[in-house]
Amino acid sequence: METPLKARIVKSSVNMRWVPLLLVFLQFLGSPATCAQPVRARHAMVVTREPHATRAGLDVLRSGGNAVDAAVAVGFALAVTHPAAGNLGGGGFLLARFADGRTTFIDFRERAPGNASRNMYLDERGALTHDSLAGYRASGVPGTVAGLEYAHRKFGAKPWSELLRPSLQLASDGFSVSYGLAQSMRATKVLSRFPESNRIFLRDGRYFEPGEVLKQPELARTLERIAREGSKDFYRGETAQLFAEAMKANGGTITLEDLRNYKPVERKPLTGAYRGYQILTAPPPSSGGVGILQMMGVLENSGYAKSGPGSAAAIHFVAEAMRRYYADRSEYLADPDFFEVPVSKLLNPRYIETLRASIDPERAKPSSEVHPGDLKAYERAETTHYSIVDAEGNAVAVTYTLNGSYGSGVTLPGLGFLLNNEMDDFSAKPGVPNMFGLIQGEANAIQPNKRPLSSMTPTILLRDGSLYMVVGSPGGSRIITTVLEVILNVVDFGMNIQDAVNWPRFHHQWQPDKLFVEWRHSPDTKALLQSRGHQVEDIRSMGEVSAILVDRGWLEGAADPRSEGNAEGY
Ligand code: DON
Repeated sequence: METPLKARIVKSSVNMRWVPLLLVFLQFLGSPATCAQPVRARHAMVVTREPHATRAGLDVLRSGGNAVDAAVAVGFALAVTHPAAGNLGGGGFLLARFADGRTTFIDFRERAPGNASRNMYLDERGALTHDSLAGYRASGVPGTVAGLEYAHRKFGAKPWSELLRPSLQLASDGFSVSYGLAQSMRATKVLSRFPESNRIFLRDGRYFEPGEVLKQPELARTLERIAREGSKDFYRGETAQLFAEAMKANGGTITLEDLRNYKPVERKPLTGAYRGYQILTAPPPSSGGVGILQMMGVLENSGYAKSGPGSAAAIHFVAEAMRRYYADRSEYLADPDFFEVPVSKLLNPRYIETLRASIDPERAKPSSEVHPGDLKAYERAETTHYSIVDAEGNAVAVTYTLNGSYGSGVTLPGLGFLLNNEMDDFSAKPGVPNMFGLIQGEANAIQPNKRPLSSMTPTILLRDGSLYMVVGSPGGSRIITTVLEVILNVVDFGMNIQDAVNWPRFHHQWQPDKLFVEWRHSPDTKALLQSRGHQVEDIRSMGEVSAILVDRGWLEGAADPRSEGNAEGY
């Protein structure tokens, strides 16, 4: 659209020499607030939170692999180069939308072991122990190797072993430790408690400095077996044997039978719409898809965006939508194989209308006083998300995790990989907050073979039936709100994808009754929010988004400046 100023200058045409230059300048005046530039490419794009992994994915795409192939290569590479969250010993979700319109959601979330029980993390007096957080009893049965193999068997094009080559090389030759990785290994408390983790990642106290090389020979041998034998090795073969033996020797819960019984589940992505965009997102056992769709429903036609991005009025309204969803989440979301999740009721337009009507644009509604969680108490957590689009237009969004940073802290002797502490995502004691301060109810209580409720929200947007955006993030309970805000920044505020990712974030999760804001929000915005009745608390950062947007024939990749990630395309 021409700005009036532009029209005037073109008309007056005093000195035609300046017109092209002026037009370039005016184009920026006329376009939405844009300062940060995404990485642009014509054909294919990979965005992850670690550059070696990004390169592994891009190499697969350049050599003719498709987006699922690249997702497999990235998944294994991150298990080597981003040990806090990349994993073989964890689980996650893969959402794909293929160029021919087919979609799928592969749930490779961990499952509770067969001998798990409701009160397994309570002591004799019924008090919650720390066993769901660290050590051999904290892990669910890992799903990553099975999930990536399932995706590859059904949708991949390249040979499996070729996709493991980059990770194998990174593990055996080693890679240069980044500033962030050096810092994170040094800072975590959990690794030093377990001898094998202490030896590999902390060199028994001689911490890695940035630029030093981390080699992982045990992990390389495990990857070699998986490259040769596939998930059979991990769930039934040598890896499984060593895994189960180590568990038994250390009072762990996962047995050989649990490993044998693990299966990923292919589910239908959850679908919805927001202002004409079609949304494909994560169904239960994720609470993320239902969350973003319900909150978008509340926001659509509310007029909340008119006060502008970052305004106290807009933040307040969105926070009230968040508060209401997280209250629902605590009661109604869980593993759909064990609990009938009332998805359609939670997304019913009439119900959503009542939620919207209950929001006072001027006043925060206090959350009820049930067991406020202490979010300050939790250690920095890690999950990771990556987004890929290939030259055919196939799109893959993967979020996977060990849950906490470096999971349970346990590296299985001889196997070289860390195990998750995903059991903490259950309500270990219904009504008592977990690591993320989330209050969860009966529906998410521990049961054998059940999947803990997740917040991971890999999401894809379509515009007029064509691929528009691929997005996701880590962040525990803040994943859902992070993904929501990036989408709102693009759709409602017209930001480009990099600006949308960079923009300061905020989060409300009903309990504790606090509005968490990245500290960069201005003091007067925070004061205005306080005057509306919010208890505002500064946080350093939330989320680490990896996003891709398709814009007029260009792929725009945006890594999150909150991480050391990058986007690369060709
Ligand atoms: O599935 C979940 O919701 C959590 N296990 C995710 C953990 C997470 O995002 C930690 N990262 N920052």
